[in-house]
Amino acid sequence: MRLLTKLSHKHRHGHGHAAQEAFEGKGSHRYDRHVGRIFRGTYRRIAADVANLVPSGADVLDISTGPGHLLVELAGIRGDLRVTGVDLSADMVAIARGHLEPFGDRATAVTGDVGALPFDDDSFDVIVSSSALHHWPDLDAAAAEVGRVLRPGGQVLIYDFWRAPFDEMTAATAKVPAFADRPARRTRFSAWPVPGLFYRRQEF
Ligand SMILES: C[S@@+](CC[C@H](N)C(=O)[O-])C[C@H]1O[C@@H](n2cnc3c(N)ncnc32)[C@H](O)[C@@H]1O
Repeated sequence: MRLLTKLSHKHRHGHGHAAQEAFEGKGSHRYDRHVGRIFRGTYRRIAADVANLVPSGADVLDISTGPGHLLVELAGIRGDLRVTGVDLSADMVAIARGHLEPFGDRATAVTGDVGALPFDDDSFDVIVSSSALHHWPDLDAAAAEVGRVLRPGGQVLIYDFWRAPFDEMTAATAKVPAFADRPARRTRFSAWPVPGLFYRRQEF
């Protein structure tokens, strides 16, 4: 429990150069090995949640995919989906590509910033993100970009620790026409090893 509190506190505003270093080079491999293993239940639970909502044949984007564990779980249970991961760290993207290789051309990962996504307008039916909102440095830019690459009628699902800036993201989306008439709904989300008290799912 203390670890969760520490993690959340540390990452409440965990962006900037020092925080990002943890996701580069050796840090990316450490993250892949340790977090990937410890949070396997979380990735599975989120993947099952997303799989329940995603229409057949959808294009799914995972922003700040890290080593791509969530997409591996999702692509594994839904063979009809095309999944794409994007992450600021080229090292994370290289690891994600390795993990996604078994899914062939229906799974890819690319390097990019949530504030300047490397995709055309209206590219995705569903946009997800796990444990990363608290790292996004500019939520106005992030909301504008999510709104731009999301297809009309698409869904956005953001999962993160309870202290992540969900309210700030909601305020940022309110300025983006793509989110008009789409009230944000936040709920507790319990996924081993993170109890619902400490994790949230916000839907736009
Ligand atoms: C805590 S990790 C979460 C990774 C993965 N989603 C997971 O659940 O394991 C946060 C990730 O956010 C990425 N990140 C940080 N700032 C970013 C930005 N501005 N744009 C895209 N990704 C970013 C980092 O490189 C890192 O891989």
